Amino acid sequence: MDLHGKHIVLGITGGVAAYKGAELARELVKAGATVQAVMTASAQQFITPLLLQSLTGRPVATTQWDTTQPNAMAHINLSREADAILVAPATADFIARLAQGRCDELLSLLCVARPTERCSLLLAPAMNREMWAHPATQRNTRQVQQDGAVVLGPAAGSQACGEIGDGRMLEPAELRDALISHFQPKVLLGRKVLITAGPTFEALDPVRGITNRSSGKMGFALARAAAEAGATVTLVAGPVQLPTPAGVQRLDVESARQMHAAVLPLAAQHELFVATAAVADWRAAEPADAKIKKKAGQPTPSFELTENPDVLASVAALTNAPFCVGFAAETHDIERHARDKLERKKLQLVVANHGPSTFGRDHNQLLLVDAKGSRELPPGDKLTLARALVAELAQRLQAAGH
Ligand code: CTP
Repeated sequence: MDLHGKHIVLGITGGVAAYKGAELARELVKAGATVQAVMTASAQQFITPLLLQSLTGRPVATTQWDTTQPNAMAHINLSREADAILVAPATADFIARLAQGRCDELLSLLCVARPTERCSLLLAPAMNREMWAHPATQRNTRQVQQDGAVVLGPAAGSQACGEIGDGRMLEPAELRDALISHFQPKVLLGRKVLITAGPTFEALDPVRGITNRSSGKMGFALARAAAEAGATVTLVAGPVQLPTPAGVQRLDVESARQMHAAVLPLAAQHELFVATAAVADWRAAEPADAKIKKKAGQPTPSFELTENPDVLASVAALTNAPFCVGFAAETHDIERHARDKLERKKLQLVVANHGPSTFGRDHNQLLLVDAKGSRELPPGDKLTLARALVAELAQRLQAAGH
């Protein structure tokens, strides 16, 4: 319910992606928002107001000449109630109208009439690739951005016309998440954050290896929360099946040594390093070049292990080290073990949890351990915890003078 308490004006203009505008309305309602749909005359050529009314539970606004409004000022009433206006799809024509400040139909009129300081305008362009690439559309898009609108997308891909290129509207779930992100406090604005996540995989031979049960979910949630808070985020991920959070730069690695090699050159350019990865402590000293075959009568193979480099300790030991945060997954004596890591690796903070009860799950409970003491964050799903942790880290970064 990330949009609980938010009132969104959802504008739909006349493009094929209008059908996805209807799905978006559903997503916003499911996320807890109240949604007031506003449709242009062209949008009603593609889908009906009845559909949007059914999905949002509110009559759809279609005209500025609405005499059912006591003051007959639909544009004022709609824009004063809204926490944000999201136009999806926004056609080339609609963007052109906004660029000119036109007010001769309800949707562009209420965009111009909105109080800009408390009601953001977000646009999700959707059109044929040639229309998007046209200098007039590019000029108009730059103009509306200069005038304060936020442009989401468009994405590249196959288009309703059969062509392939830029101009696809972002998917409804992506637009919902962009709106959720828009409302998050920008406590890490302009900060550079580096995060490791997931397990590592240490090959024994070309098909087998040593790994662990880390799903990467906490690290990915943290990357999303940091990006939502305005940070530039680099995520170095071990082998996991998770989508990259919007706006996050992701580097995929497999082994601890690859993670170490990816992180070390980047670390000093960042102000905050959060090591959520469950890095394998050991790897095979001599992995086999070919698959190890079982042969009747042969002894069971055994492997000599050697220690992996410690990514976090190496970063913390740099002369210009960022603010370093470690994670500790423990089974017992959680605080004592976390404090031991804090001191041994010379960290500013360790975030501890009970490993076996959190691996792969969506819920977690975190204990923050620093030189002064410890504090529990209220339990929650990993994204809620990640946002709480981001708020905490923003304060600590500032207090530490980073
Ligand atoms: N870490 C790392 N590189 C390693 C090992 C760990 O960056 N080679 C980081 C993890 O990302 C995590 C923290 O160090 O932030 C965990 O510390 P560690 O002592 O390795 O944890 P465990 O392996 O669970 O420790 P122990 O064996 O002491 O229980």
